[in-house]
Amino acid sequence: MSGWEDLVADGTLVEGVALAPLTTAGVGGPARRLVRIGARETLARVAAAFRDDPVPVLVLGRGSNLVVADEGFDGLVVVLTGELATVEILPDRVRAGGGARLPVVARTAVAAGRLGLEPYVGIPGTVGGAVRQNAGGHGADTRSLLLRAEVYDLAAGAGGWRTVDELDLGYRRSGVGSTDIVLAADFAAVPGSREEGEARLREISRWRRDHQPGGTRNAGSIFKNPEGDSAGRLIDACGLKGFRVGGVVVSPRHANFFEADPGARAADVLGLVVEVRRRVAEETGVVLEPEICFVGFPEDVRWTRG
Ligand code: EPU
Repeated sequence: MSGWEDLVADGTLVEGVALAPLTTAGVGGPARRLVRIGARETLARVAAAFRDDPVPVLVLGRGSNLVVADEGFDGLVVVLTGELATVEILPDRVRAGGGARLPVVARTAVAAGRLGLEPYVGIPGTVGGAVRQNAGGHGADTRSLLLRAEVYDLAAGAGGWRTVDELDLGYRRSGVGSTDIVLAADFAAVPGSREEGEARLREISRWRRDHQPGGTRNAGSIFKNPEGDSAGRLIDACGLKGFRVGGVVVSPRHANFFEADPGARAADVLGLVVEVRRRVAEETGVVLEPEICFVGFPEDVRWTRG
């Protein structure tokens, strides 16, 4: 029996899992395999199976910031749950599992009178995704909030804590590799007034509701902001709000978000990315770089992976 079959046998791994419902864009095909890892012991078993039969890996958080191809993903999707998705308030830090949801981290910290992580309240992702993409907003990115992160490399079958410098976090990128799983992260959060924290949570949530189209049927910001400007402003200035390819449209609320109709295809998201990028470059001379990850697409459209 192979390591993968062994994991199927006890229900840890499932084959042929639809990914669209597990992503915020809600498009795309199935994953060949999906494993839910809720304890560190399971990691070693997954690493052993991987060593015998290496496959492409996608660590999936809340499924924001990515688009899965219509053909699906011919690899292993890793989802962290259980003890790898908890939030703990420690005397000098907040420790969260890689699978913990960012809004939960923000709210748990504030409820315990720890301030600083409020910007996470509006980000529909997990701690692992935030580290990998250096997610942020409202004046803070993950680099500025993080103390260190525990990363396990499936290919090496080993892991450990990495400092912020070792993680090599840049604007919406990091040195976290394709077989790396962010198991946990320690964040700096300073003691402060709970009321003040709650007011900040409300303010950020309201701002996002007023300025962005919300967490479903879109993949978050499509393009990174170019130096000194905003992708949304540029796309809007080119008159592209409402512009559509198939079932996917440039959001009338914020031009750096694309909204997918029910039944839309991943190919339409890619088609709109390519066309908007072409038109913005033609009209403004700025070549936008995608922020979203394309999963399961041919190598030449994976602008943003790795
Ligand atoms: N704007 C337009 N038209 C639009 C959208 C924006 O003219 O359709 C203008 C706004 O009026 C504003 C400027 O563009 O003057 C910047 O827009 P906004 O304040 O909405 O910020 P952003 O640059 O589009 C960035 C991050 C967001 C983060 C917000 C708030 C990126 C790519 N985007 O958006 O992060 O939530 O700031 O801090 O870095 C994400 O990365 O997924 C993301 C949502």
